[in-house]
Amino acid sequence: MDHQKVFSTNIFIEDNFLQPQRLPGMQEEIERLYGLREYDGTWQTGPNLEKNEPFKWFAKDIGKAAFNIMDKLNYKADQLEITDMWGTVLKENETHPPHTHSNNFLSGVFYLDADDTMPGIIFQDPRPAADVFVPRKKTKTNENSNLLSYASKNNRLIIFPSWLLHWVPINKSKRDRISISFNIQVKGQVGEHHEYQSGQF
Ligand SMILES: [Fe+2]
Repeated sequence: MDHQKVFSTNIFIEDNFLQPQRLPGMQEEIERLYGLREYDGTWQTGPNLEKNEPFKWFAKDIGKAAFNIMDKLNYKADQLEITDMWGTVLKENETHPPHTHSNNFLSGVFYLDADDTMPGIIFQDPRPAADVFVPRKKTKTNENSNLLSYASKNNRLIIFPSWLLHWVPINKSKRDRISISFNIQVKGQVGEHHEYQSGQF
């Protein structure tokens, strides 16, 4: 029987994304900004981290990865813009509740300081009815799961559709979990004029 997998949800993962010698400078910059913090809850940098020195090159690498993803998905993109980039320090007992990233096409996270004592990221099946009835599983696979968890580990990049609901469970580690998040929007023409579904961004 012809098995067609349709309406796919695409999550991209790359381990060892950066040369390891680039990580300490980035981490130091987050720690410097963290030292200047004005509040003590779950702390995030401002939304323009890509303008800070160690993150300028990182943003370029993210841009290249995003173009590769567009290519792989057979989408045209005149230009991709990193609209937001920020760092997060998730301390012990802190969590990120379920959310999406509005007004962008791709979003992602990069783990700058994380280990297997810390929570990963959980994605929820975007098909609202898909877990109404779930048969027993011979083997748990990405395709028969309604929740997927990806471990947070140093130098791992994860890029996903901005609309995909995700969250981070409680950090039970004594150590701070440091991650960099970003949003990417397609600029220029989207859609096709002759299909009456185009737009300019
Ligand atoms: Fe997020």
